[in-house]
Amino acid sequence: MKPNQDDNKLPQNFHTITAKQDASDFNSLLDYLNNYQHELKSSLANYGAIVIRGYELKTPEQFQQVGLSIFPNLQNQYPGGAPREKVAEYVWTASGLTSYLPISGHTELSYSPSDKPAYILFFCPQVAASGGETPVIDMKSVLSDLPEQLRHKCSHTRLVTKLFWVSTRKRLFDVRLWKWPWFGSAKSWKTVFDTEDRGLVEVKCRDVGRQIEWLTNGDLIVSCPMQAISSHPTTKEIVWTGWFPRFHIWGTCIEAWFVANYQRKFRSWLVFFILFLITFVQICVEQLISGYRQYRILNVAFEDGSNLSVWDVYHIVKSYWQNAEIFSWQEGDVLILDNYRLGHGRLPFTGERRVYTAFA
Ligand SMILES: [Fe+2]
Repeated sequence: MKPNQDDNKLPQNFHTITAKQDASDFNSLLDYLNNYQHELKSSLANYGAIVIRGYELKTPEQFQQVGLSIFPNLQNQYPGGAPREKVAEYVWTASGLTSYLPISGHTELSYSPSDKPAYILFFCPQVAASGGETPVIDMKSVLSDLPEQLRHKCSHTRLVTKLFWVSTRKRLFDVRLWKWPWFGSAKSWKTVFDTEDRGLVEVKCRDVGRQIEWLTNGDLIVSCPMQAISSHPTTKEIVWTGWFPRFHIWGTCIEAWFVANYQRKFRSWLVFFILFLITFVQICVEQLISGYRQYRILNVAFEDGSNLSVWDVYHIVKSYWQNAEIFSWQEGDVLILDNYRLGHGRLPFTGERRVYTAFA
């Protein structure tokens, strides 16, 4: 963990484009990006991360123009299940997960390899009052810091994430739905796929290698197999693919433990304690009532049927924290990450925080 405590100091492993005092307007930035395309591409190849700071960048539309000037192939569809709102043709809000909860490290859409974008772009027009930093995680180092046994297992067997789009109220007690003071609700498959046509859903899932299972009441379970270790598409380096610990029932609680140790705030410890209690109760209920486990909203196991243990998840989250640089936002910042080489997360925050995202 390398905290970036001085807000004016940028992490050393990022390439930074900083505005000059007499040329910080938006058009100067566009001119710069158009004139230095080759340098930008080689910086991304060398560093994996670019920060653009100090320019007068205020709206999602301006961010979109910046994104398109570097990546003409920005995506206009987001195929994942994260709570996002589309705010421009190629721009979405970053996760709408409530401010006091942490988002553990991951690469975008790691659970759905054929949808995974090569790059993810972020733009922050409003900085949180406190917290809200983005840990940027080196996936190659994560892999080398994992226990040998786990690396061995992951190099031989794929992980399978299960997304349960079930309507029964029994899923209410899933820790991933906790939202003070009670529980929120998850998206239904009709919202996620924006259709009521089962046939269309089946085609969309099969096209990207997902397996589906319809329940008799019309609910849907989707299984997404992914390699946990693979080679980078261009550099061919072997990297950890950025599996999202939230998919494991203990993942959010373990992340909250590391966050509380980092932030050392009463609220962070309280959130950890509540998440621990809910998860513990959830596990106990599953032990007592047979079949209750299928009402989790997310789950993960190895493809051979064995489980990813709590300690496996602990080691993965620990390795994310060991290999993270904490990026502190300034208003108007744009952060571009190679989505195979670097993962990202979000620390809990107070106040208003706005961050937008785009994918290439
Ligand atoms: Fe993300």
